[in-house]
Amino acid sequence: MEDMLFETERLYFRALQKEDLEEIMEIWGDDEVMAWSGGAGTREQEERSISFYQTMQKERGFSPYLVLLKETEEAVGVCGFNPPVESFDAELLYHFKKRHWGKGYATESVLGVTQYAKEILHLRSIISSADPRNTSSQKVLEKAGYRYIGMKWYEDLSQEEPTYVWESDETA
Ligand SMILES: CC(C)(COP(=O)(O)OP(=O)(O)OC[C@H]1O[C@@H](n2cnc3c(N)ncnc32)[C@H](O)[C@@H]1OP(=O)(O)O)[C@@H](O)C(=O)NCCC(=O)NCCS
Repeated sequence: MEDMLFETERLYFRALQKEDLEEIMEIWGDDEVMAWSGGAGTREQEERSISFYQTMQKERGFSPYLVLLKETEEAVGVCGFNPPVESFDAELLYHFKKRHWGKGYATESVLGVTQYAKEILHLRSIISSADPRNTSSQKVLEKAGYRYIGMKWYEDLSQEEPTYVWESDETA
């Protein structure tokens, strides 16, 4: 596939492009998908998100990636990284189209992006959190080997969330 950055057994990963807006609206523009992630965005907001993440990809070398099925090249979700938070090199995020939940794509993606972060991007630490009610998301982090560090207060969300980290075992 053109522009592919990396792959896993069933999935391809590439940077977001302006032309992905329709696909992105099925993810970040969907009320159910975003129910526990601050709610759905409008087309205008998601156009700006894509452009923000294109700049981030250019400047930092990482961003949230579009996840596509190898078999059909259909976009199934987004999984990748937000900019550094506190002492962590990046924040992990992942959101999948509703009709593609329950197929193991989230866990496969988180394992894939984390391996890419370690081996290619040389990130040393990644943080992620989920709404306390979002148990399937917490399970994804556990299955992908992220370590639970406790409940953490998020000012922007006005709530505490179970928080997980991944740290590279490489010594500098
Ligand atoms: C939370 C979310 C990311 C989970 O995605 P998912 O792909 O369904 O999650 P998983 O990778 O855990 O797969 C779920 C199930 O698929 C099943 N599955 C089916 N085929 C599979 C396969 N080939 N390989 C692995 N699992 C498979 C498994 O039963 C697995 O659950 P289990 O490991 O508990 O048995 C998804 O529901 C989502 O996008 N939600 C909205 C956005 C969101 O909340 N994001 C997180 C914000 S913190």
